[in-house]
Amino acid sequence: MSHYSLLEHLLFPPTHIGEQRIVNAMAGKTVVITGASYGIGEQLAYLFAGTGAKMVLVARTEDKLQHVKAEVERHGGKAIVLPANLADPSSVDKLAEQLLNLQGGIDYFISNAGKSIRRPLSESLDRYHDFTRTMGVNYLGPVQLLLKVLPSIVQNRGHIINVSSVSVLLPPAPRWAAYQASKSAMDQWFRSAVPELEASGVCTTTIYLPLVRTRMIAPTEAYNNVPAMDPVHVARKVCRAMYKKQRIIRPWWLPVVELASLLLRRPWQWWSTYKLKKQK
Ligand SMILES: NC(=O)c1ccc[n+]([C@@H]2O[C@H](COP(=O)([O-])OP(=O)(O)OC[C@H]3O[C@@H](n4cnc5c(N)ncnc54)[C@H](OP(=O)(O)O)[C@@H]3O)[C@@H](O)[C@H]2O)c1
Repeated sequence: MSHYSLLEHLLFPPTHIGEQRIVNAMAGKTVVITGASYGIGEQLAYLFAGTGAKMVLVARTEDKLQHVKAEVERHGGKAIVLPANLADPSSVDKLAEQLLNLQGGIDYFISNAGKSIRRPLSESLDRYHDFTRTMGVNYLGPVQLLLKVLPSIVQNRGHIINVSSVSVLLPPAPRWAAYQASKSAMDQWFRSAVPELEASGVCTTTIYLPLVRTRMIAPTEAYNNVPAMDPVHVARKVCRAMYKKQRIIRPWWLPVVELASLLLRRPWQWWSTYKLKKQK
């Protein structure tokens, strides 16, 4: 990405994708993208526009989804819009029915929709709904939907992609309890399901993402000057994982950070508490 800083170039090296290999893998296939109205999901839709895939764009904001669909069609692609709220079980049921009625079934299911909240416990005392909502969008909704549409994915020997976060593999950070608990729940569920899915002929990919410069991190000022990936770059990584059938995608430096966090667990806890006390 040309606008990356030197450090970002180092942390997030370029991802080469074989245009013809994408077309071979995706032409005529049905690709469901949840969270297709903004950020990573929107960029995925644009990237797949020239592949001959039939896209199903899912999110709450219908007018934005219609805009994405129009852009896809302007570039020769095919898309339909299915607005749904993943945090609402009746909306997920309706969406699942619509997906099961698609001609030809589902070939790729990209579980990408997500909601993030950063809030201290002291400001969460009357906000239990923060926890139920993040659990709904990041865990319970995707699981409910996947369970319903799984027969269609199995029948097509399809591919499920779970968009996860590096944070689920690292010690939890203060103020992120709602987000991290829900993303960890989904990660654990998916990791447990992977052997069963693969035994049924379904491919799986988990992509563990670092910070990505989307509206999700925009409210957190502290991230303005922290290295972050571009959502277009993330879309290319997801796409490459799809045609190469890669099981796990993570930044090259993640194992080093995981090892350091294991060795430095106690000092990290001490430092987090010390910093929070100083801010009081
Ligand atoms: N950005 C990061 O730093 C980062 C880091 C690690 C992992 N991730 C993961 O990457 C994925 C995509 O995030 P992003 O950065 O692209 O964020 P984003 O720009 O905020 O997009 C999130 C998408 O999810 C949809 N969504 C949110 N709540 C929904 C609901 N209740 N029902 C249906 N759709 C809903 C949003 O659409 P509507 O608002 O229209 O519903 C939007 O399309 C998420 O799973 C996130 O956890 C992001």
